[in-house]
Amino acid sequence: MIVGTSQHTAAAAGAAVELDDIAVAFATPSGAVHTVLRDVSLAVAEGSFTAIVGPSGCGKTTLLNVAAGLFAPPGGEVRVFGEALGGLAGFEDRFPYQLSGGMKKRVAIAQSWIVDPRILLMDEPFGALDVQTRQNMENELLGLWQETRKTVLFITHDLEEAIALADQVVVMSAGPAARIKGRYAVNLPRPRDVAEIRLNADFVALYSRIWDDLRDEVKRSQESPQ
Ligand SMILES: Nc1ncnc2c1ncn2[C@@H]1O[C@H](COP(=O)(O)OP(=O)(O)OP(=O)(O)O)[C@@H](O)[C@H]1O
Ligand SMILES: [Mg+2]
Repeated sequence: MIVGTSQHTAAAAGAAVELDDIAVAFATPSGAVHTVLRDVSLAVAEGSFTAIVGPSGCGKTTLLNVAAGLFAPPGGEVRVFGEALGGLAGFEDRFPYQLSGGMKKRVAIAQSWIVDPRILLMDEPFGALDVQTRQNMENELLGLWQETRKTVLFITHDLEEAIALADQVVVMSAGPAARIKGRYAVNLPRPRDVAEIRLNADFVALYSRIWDDLRDEVKRSQESPQ
């Protein structure tokens, strides 16, 4: 899913998106409560590229839907450019896409930029692509971002992709009641080529640090899938 917003609101200095103590729970068919997110707080600086990683089913898409205003959390607060607008849903030209295939992704990204969104929310946009196409798309995305400095919130399963693209990598814990386990600044040089940056010694060291954090969560989620 890709969601864009346009410039209707004067920006508050600092954060483009702020999530404060977000809690999300769903009722199960048996009537029990399934808590997906608990105490999730996250600030995404204007113009930054933030990647969120976490085990399968931990609540990444739910978190993005909360930020997008597609889903109102029962607990906590969402602010976009300092305003509690219920996420990005107050922007009338928000446009979600559910697309697959390389060209469709390319078109979707180009369209997102054409209407000059200030925030792009991307949920595993390149997951289904072959490696070559994926790297081309990642480099293309980085090039566009570098030119325009939109705020990007990018969900991925792939820690290498997260580090290669982002300024900040956020690690979510396994569910239920997933929370934010760690935040890592990515101080690798730009412009980056996603294939080459993976060979950088600092990249490898950072990957190792973050994977130390993520590994336990992936293991936990495999032991009790959500
Ligand atoms: N509308 C809903 N009703 C009930 N449960 C839901 C709903 N939406 C999500 N869930 C549950 O919330 C949890 C998190 O789902 P979500 O899709 O956000 O995880 P995810 O991290 O994006 O998963 P994936 O890695 O597979 O993309 C799952 O247990 C899912 O079954
Ligand atoms: Mg998901």
